[in-house]
Amino acid sequence: MTNVLVIGGGGREHAVCHQLSKSNKIGKLFCVPGNAGIEKIASCKQMSVFDFDGIYEYVKSNEIDLVFVTPDDPLAKGMVDYFNGRGVRAFGPTASAARLESSKAFSKEFMLRHKIPTASSQIFDCPDKAKEYLRSTDYPVVIKSDGLALGKGVIICADLDEAIKAIDDIMVSKTFGEAGNRVLIEEFLVGREVTVMAFCDGKHISLMPSSQDHKRAYDGDKGLNTGGMGAFAPSPFFTDSHRKEFLDKIALPTVEGLIKDGIEFKGVLYFGLMMTAKGIKVIEYNSRLGDPETEAVLPLLSTDLIDIMNACIDGTLDTVDVRWQDKVGFTVVIASGEYPLSVVKGHEITIGELEDVILFHAGTAIKDGKLVNNGGRVFQLTAVADDMDKAREAVYSQIDKVHFANCRYRTDIGKV
Ligand code: AMP
Ligand code: GLY
Repeated sequence: MTNVLVIGGGGREHAVCHQLSKSNKIGKLFCVPGNAGIEKIASCKQMSVFDFDGIYEYVKSNEIDLVFVTPDDPLAKGMVDYFNGRGVRAFGPTASAARLESSKAFSKEFMLRHKIPTASSQIFDCPDKAKEYLRSTDYPVVIKSDGLALGKGVIICADLDEAIKAIDDIMVSKTFGEAGNRVLIEEFLVGREVTVMAFCDGKHISLMPSSQDHKRAYDGDKGLNTGGMGAFAPSPFFTDSHRKEFLDKIALPTVEGLIKDGIEFKGVLYFGLMMTAKGIKVIEYNSRLGDPETEAVLPLLSTDLIDIMNACIDGTLDTVDVRWQDKVGFTVVIASGEYPLSVVKGHEITIGELEDVILFHAGTAIKDGKLVNNGGRVFQLTAVADDMDKAREAVYSQIDKVHFANCRYRTDIGKV
């Protein structure tokens, strides 16, 4: 039996814990910090995910065998390196491998070096040079801060004025802090976005079903960009021939490129893709599971997640038959009304009798014995069904049973 600790406390981590709790090999399940929903299936401990020493003590005192480091920040700060150095088995990439996400300049140079199709791009350390380039380029352009910026460091600029303002915000006012010391100015790609996540053991890669996230806050893809308002998997737009093109031109060259560069990537590799008229291109890599894609994808997994985690750590992923149900996973985010702006927390939540759906908690907490909203994205309501229409119907027919003051969700997930 394996005692497992999951790091993180969102809907994605709830989906990971849910999957782990179904494993035949699971002993005790722990989560730091977890949330009010995860608490029902795992022992949760309120601790900062950056308190590596404190978490190490927790691992030792609870005889934890395996740690799943889920969020980007602790990965970028070297949590897996820290555990590797102390003989604790940890699932996730090292800080050096996680640079595929934590530095957009690094990942862009990686893609160019290994001829992986992506948007053409210029990298600047100096705001004046960036502005000089902007005066001579075509529009729209996409301006990206190099470092991690809570998913907000990407600005699409329609004209020179917007672009100059973006450079001033990122590089001069430092809206995203040090993440904006360097920027990328990128060609604007047009097409449908698709996510493909994959397990990776440093040598082999195993693709998960494709998925699609909905990033804008409101129906019809209107409003501000968010962390994601809903997702479905697989994407009907990502056909077998797209999958082949993706494997041949992107996924396998990525793994080979990592090996050539001496980078051992173990964990989940996330490919954010744009299906353009000129073929599939990489928008970004993430070095972890996506949120909310995970809440739609992971419930489709039939193989034991603990076996997959161990095989990734041991470099034996080629010996595991990773299987997925031939069904559709569908998830809708229930958010606090103000999200993605700062939200009013502490509204009491009521949940009616739910059938044939899974309610993943994200920003929830218990206050004075009551369940309350405690963040922007509060729940993800997920269904697994034979087809998209059934899965969508299962979620939307029950979503109003979850209620709190000013709660909100998109009504068009899977339709745009
Ligand atoms: P990222 O943080 O890199 O995922 O970017 C956030 C979102 O910005 C993506 O999901 C896309 O919708 C959009 N985006 C990023 N790069 C580009 C690009 N080169 N062309 C068009 N849209 C982009
Ligand atoms: N859903 C996009 C991400 O997790 O980055």
